[in-house]
Parts: sequence; structure tokens; C-alpha cells
Amino acid sequence: MEQLLAYRDRFPILSDCTYLINHSLAAMPAAAEDRLLEYARMWRERGIRSWGEGWWDMPITVGDQIGRIVGAPPGSVIMHQNVTVAEMIVLSCFRNPGARNRVVYEDANFPSVRYLYQAQPELEVVAVEDDAAIVAAIDERTLLVPISHVLFKNSEIQDVEPIIRRAHEAGAYVVLDCYQSAGVVPFDLAALDVDFAVGGSVKWLCGGPGAGWLYVRPDLAETLEPTFVGWQAHARPFDFEPELEYAAGARRFLTGTPNVPALYAATAGYDVIEEVGVPRIRERSLALTGLLIELLDAAGFEVVSPREGRRRGGAVVVSTPDHAAVHRELGQRGIICDFRPDAGVRLGPHFFNTEDELRHTVVELSDIVASGAYREHAGAAARF
Ligand SMILES: Cc1ncc(COP(=O)(O)O)c(C=O)c1O
Repeated sequence: MEQLLAYRDRFPILSDCTYLINHSLAAMPAAAEDRLLEYARMWRERGIRSWGEGWWDMPITVGDQIGRIVGAPPGSVIMHQNVTVAEMIVLSCFRNPGARNRVVYEDANFPSVRYLYQAQPELEVVAVEDDAAIVAAIDERTLLVPISHVLFKNSEIQDVEPIIRRAHEAGAYVVLDCYQSAGVVPFDLAALDVDFAVGGSVKWLCGGPGAGWLYVRPDLAETLEPTFVGWQAHARPFDFEPELEYAAGARRFLTGTPNVPALYAATAGYDVIEEVGVPRIRERSLALTGLLIELLDAAGFEVVSPREGRRRGGAVVVSTPDHAAVHRELGQRGIICDFRPDAGVRLGPHFFNTEDELRHTVVELSDIVASGAYREHAGAAARF
């Protein structure tokens, strides 16, 4: 624990406030600033030569670092801007699905994922109640099963193995959205035998915005032909040939010019996550969320996220009288968190948070509710 707390110095924002929003925009490592300066230096001093000195291959080299964190072999993860783009690339491999045109997911799937599939006229979306219902809904008409590993609203870990097994039995593909699990819950994509996986970097990976990722199972990558494609996906991009010839492996799932500055910034977060190690982060996360649940129970709050460790992701969600107003008042008291409508106030401690920060948060939360201090923000529509 002492060793983990030594990492606090590397996250400047921790000295200014109680930062419990690592499930949304995790604390920035100071090293991210140095990386961005290094990016600017390259641009300034090396100019066009920067492409050959690392920039062009960054979607692959940075993807390999993600691969080490999520148990994917080298060359199987590539970087994109966000999950929506990554899922669109997957979707673009299945343009004329015929009778196998169903997409099965659960209601609690993240909205942008839901919207993307809903917007495809050739697909029939079947939205079900929970992870167990997904297993039951998969049949030979199912093409894709885009699921969240950890649900964004209540931080519940989903039972993904039976879904993957059933999908494969029925000939369907699974797209596992690991945004809320990567960096805080250990898992191994190769062992899960999942077909595709996606995620981003703003949350537990501490990598900031603009660095989404896509994993494609290596044997599958050789056979699929994405139709959302760009010149980075060509076998010989610098020959500028008129016709498309797909690159081998995951490279064919690239599009155009990569988001270089975001990739520079992101690796600072991945470095810390790799250094600490996800199993150690998980151990600390379970201890902190366990304590938070105890404190909230003792203060008389209703915890609406899972209690059992097996189902508990990185955040704890607590029900309060007026989520938006309570969240606003917490922010004014220097406690940074968020809320989701119909769910509650989300508190997401990372490995660098302390027990005292959690005690302080619950004391303030109790005061805000008991004193009615939140009422002055009635009608608050805070989005962040
Ligand atoms: C589970 C999950 N998926 C996806 C996203 C975001 O998707 P995108 O990268 O398209 O913004 C989030 C949160 O922002 C999330 O919690």
C-alpha cells in the first residue's frame, strides 16, 4: 500500500482535490505533459522525418502496449480515436449480412455503441435485460454481440465467458467493450477467445482522450475485409496504388493519418499501469471500494452498484436525493466525481487514492444530504 501511495506524486491533480473520477477522466500522469512536449519537439525539429522515426507506426507500437495490459499478442491491437470508430470498423466487415443480421446486446450497453448499431438499416437490434439474457437471445440469426465487460452506469462486471461460448456455438462474433475494465480489472483477451475487443484511454488507463483501441483475434484478422478503410490499411501505402490490397493482420483495420499527439500522451498512463500491474491495482481497488461501501452503509446510504467482489468493477455508485445537485455541491467542496441519471453518484477511486480521501468524501456527502446544502443547486444540469 505504501508503495502504491508513493505514486501519488506522479499525478499532480491529487494534491489539489479529492479525485474520485477515475472511471471517467482519470488523473493525468505528469509524464503525459513531457510526452506532449516531446511530440512538439519532434514536429518542430524533425518535421516530416518524424513519420519514419515512429509516428507512422504508432497505431501498432502503442497498440502493442495496450496488448500487454489486456492479454493480446503483439500486432493484434491497433489505435483509433475512440470506441465508436473501432466498433464501426468491426461493423464494416459485415456489410451484407443477409439472414444473419441480428445484433444482440443488453440495455445497459454504452449509448454510443447502442446508437451506432441502431443506426444501421441492414441490422436488427435485439436489446435484452442483462448478461444472462444475452446468452438466451443468441441464435443462428445473430451476427454480432457487442457487450460491455463492466457496465458504465453501475460498474457491474459482466459474466462474459458464457456469452462468448454461446456466440461461437451459434456462429456469431463478440465485440467486448473493455473501456470500464482495462487498467483496473485483470483479464486476458487471448484466453477469453473473444473475436474483437475495444476500449479507450480516458478512464482507468490514465491515458487521456483520443486514444481508442481495437483488438482483432489474429486468425480472424487475416480473413476479414473492413469496408471502413483508409490508406494505412493498404499492403503498400506508399506506393499509392489505385486499388485496395489489404495489409496483413490488424493493420488492415487502420484508416487514415493517426492521432499522433493523443498517442504520445496516452503512453504515459499505460507506463504507470504496466509498472504497477493490473493484478495489484485490482487488489487495491477491491480494498478501496470495499471500504467505501462499508462507509456508505454506516452513513445510511443506498449503494446501487454490486457488493460482491466478483461483480464489482472500479467504481461505487450511491443513490442520493438529487444526484445532479449533490454532485454539484461535492464539486464545490473539492470532491471530484460524477453522476448518471437513474443510477446515482459515481465514485471511482484508483490505486493512488487513500482511505482518508474516502472517509472525507462520505463525511461530506452525509453533511450535504443531512444539511440540505445540495438544495441550492436544485435543477443543476451539470454534465461533467
Ligand atoms: C463502456 C464504455 N464504452 C464506451 C465509452 C465511450 O465511447 P467513445 O470512445 O466512443 O466515446 C464509454 C465511456 O465514455 C464507456 O464507459
